[in-house]
Amino acid sequence: MKAVQYARYGGPDVLDYTDIADPVPADDEVLIEVHAASVAPGDWKVRSGMLQHLFPVVLPTVPGRDGAGVVVAVGPKVDYAEVGDEVCFVTQHVEQGGAAELVARGRHDIAPKPANLSFTEATTIIHAGVCAWIGLVETARIEAGQTVLILGGSGSIGSLSVQLAKHLGATVAATCHSRNADYVAGLGADTVIAYDRENFADRLTEVDAVFDLVGGAMHEAAYGVMRKGGVIAWLIAKPFEDHSADFGVRDVQAVIEDRPDLTAKVLDLAGQGVLRPQVARELPLADCAEAHRLMEAGAISRGRIVLKVR
Ligand SMILES: NC(=O)c1ccc[n+]([C@@H]2O[C@H](COP(=O)([O-])OP(=O)(O)OC[C@H]3O[C@@H](n4cnc5c(N)ncnc54)[C@H](OP(=O)(O)O)[C@@H]3O)[C@@H](O)[C@H]2O)c1
Repeated sequence: MKAVQYARYGGPDVLDYTDIADPVPADDEVLIEVHAASVAPGDWKVRSGMLQHLFPVVLPTVPGRDGAGVVVAVGPKVDYAEVGDEVCFVTQHVEQGGAAELVARGRHDIAPKPANLSFTEATTIIHAGVCAWIGLVETARIEAGQTVLILGGSGSIGSLSVQLAKHLGATVAATCHSRNADYVAGLGADTVIAYDRENFADRLTEVDAVFDLVGGAMHEAAYGVMRKGGVIAWLIAKPFEDHSADFGVRDVQAVIEDRPDLTAKVLDLAGQGVLRPQVARELPLADCAEAHRLMEAGAISRGRIVLKVR
């Protein structure tokens, strides 16, 4: 099969569009013909070698954290899927990923694709949606009527987080670059703060919860706009110093796990139209290195960049 593979850590040039052996599904796995595969920030960070301490990859490997396609074969012990099923799938960073024509996955790594979403659209929802859910619902535990600040509202996870927080009844403020301000307002944010034009600390006060997708100085500035007892949930992004105790707030990492119940939940919300998929750009599988280059350069916002495999 055609796949994108790298045999050493490094820049986007280590990615080869090449022929590799087809994966062979285990007895309890399905074989999926991939139609669309995501390129996420974690893909280039793992490929660069900067996350070796967290994700010890066995090289050579195929990048790609999630995607969507059609089941083309099932192992003899599979009772959860049939040939022809349209499914979404996740892979972990330490496994062979989705940037390939075929991928083998087990029961807990696939979910039915909502019929009203294309393969590309579904690909933008799976992992990013689970991250949004874990951050807002399970970590920050936001409630209707609360004020929530989303740092990085124009990205893949941020764009879904704005929509999810509104759906949960929160009043939503979000930061983004000024070129994306109208876009983030269109997602439903009540207040949009362009970080290149103004300081959100000048506009906000008594915020109940923050979901931080950026880190660094942004994270540290957020303490000052929160009410005492508020919570700041964060994903691993730029490093920051934890000053939460000085401000009387809780600083809690959103620990991401692609649980099947959450994948099903966010896909269901997308199927209902509550979460609208955000496709930043589509590129052919052969252009995976270019997708990594764009992602790494910070040139991609307004959703996910997706590789069209078929
Ligand atoms: N397990 C984990 O902890 C975990 C899991 C998934 C993702 N992550 C991390 O979470 C972060 C977000 O992931 P993602 O997939 O949503 O990334 P993404 O799609 O690349 O979005 C990132 C967004 O950050 C915004 N941004 C960049 N610099 C900013 C700044 N100084 N202030 C405010 N916003 C800024 C950009 O928006 P503008 O163009 O508007 O600036 C961009 O759209 C990434 O760092 C990723 O590696 C961690």
